[in-house]
Amino acid sequence: TTYAEITGWGKCLPPAVLTNDDLATFLDTSDEWITSRTGISERRISHVGTSEMATVAAKNALAAAGLEADDLDLIIVGTCTADEIIPNVASAVQQKLGAKTAAAFDLNAACSSFLYAMHMATQAIRTGAQKRVLIIGAERLSRILDWTKRESAVLFGDGAGAMILEASDQPVGLLSSHISCDADARDVLSVDFGLSFDRFNFDGIMQFDFVGQEIFKRAVKGMNAAVAKVFEETGMTTDDVDALIPHQANKRLIDHLAKLCKVPSDKTVINIQNYGNTSSATLPIAFAEAVEQGLVKPGDSIISAVFGGGLTCGAGLIRW
Ligand code: ACO
Repeated sequence: TTYAEITGWGKCLPPAVLTNDDLATFLDTSDEWITSRTGISERRISHVGTSEMATVAAKNALAAAGLEADDLDLIIVGTCTADEIIPNVASAVQQKLGAKTAAAFDLNAACSSFLYAMHMATQAIRTGAQKRVLIIGAERLSRILDWTKRESAVLFGDGAGAMILEASDQPVGLLSSHISCDADARDVLSVDFGLSFDRFNFDGIMQFDFVGQEIFKRAVKGMNAAVAKVFEETGMTTDDVDALIPHQANKRLIDHLAKLCKVPSDKTVINIQNYGNTSSATLPIAFAEAVEQGLVKPGDSIISAVFGGGLTCGAGLIRW
């Protein structure tokens, strides 16, 4: 049997920091409100496009894997903030890396995109169709936020994360994953004009529209159900898990999920305080940081759970 081993990981976090106190200088909000409701203290703001951040994260992942760009046969970029729709972000990354032999496409499942990409890439490797795949989650959400709307402006940040998956005969990588979409709840989160904003310069026109408490309820329910399916398929339980790496949209939501899944807080990876919600980038950034900080080690079993606009949802069991 062929598996898809994680051989590289990397991240890109723009250096410019925007704190809650900075936001309170131009919005009717406070550090106290943002911290207590969301767990976010600060976020990063990028002055370059999504593909630039994606490429930096990809280069770090290639270096960790000890691969050259030419070794790649597929690049998937999960994003909902593409610099432009055609050509896609993945082709820009392919060009910047010089990965001449790779196919390249974008995938948009909102904040769930990275796990969706990992699911698809793993299946492609397991069937033998591809051998070395670069998957990326990259977002420049600061570009589509309406900075006069406190409800959404305080929640998001920019960043990118990447992973290299390679064919292996060892039972490692994404051993089980379930992705789904609760389309009855399509309307609880939408972004008007979430397209081609760099080219058409849609600054300030796009409108995040969401019903936070409805998302909260449905996200927890969807992720908990997906995690249960993964445990059922693998025959594993929470006791076998070394870490939970969830999508970082709200600390209270993560705490709630961890409690439902019975994962203790010292095994739950949380970095939302530093970066806010970076949508498809939260999972690969959190993985790369967890590796750097020694929170996860080779051989560990990691459960991941994500949700995003759609409402898309998913969970996966990763053996590193
Ligand atoms: N600063 C100060 N006050 C604020 C702010 C702010 N930044 N934003 C909203 N408020 C006010 C509201 O106007 C409201 O005031 P009112 O009671 O006078 O009407 C009050 O705070 C409460 O607002 P709620 O929206 O009910 O606050 P809630 O506790 O639900 O928190 C939040 C909102 C953080 C979005 C939460 O619902 C949540 O995390 N939901 C799940 C994740 C989510 O929806 N993320 C955004 C979509 S992205 C995704 O990941 C799918």
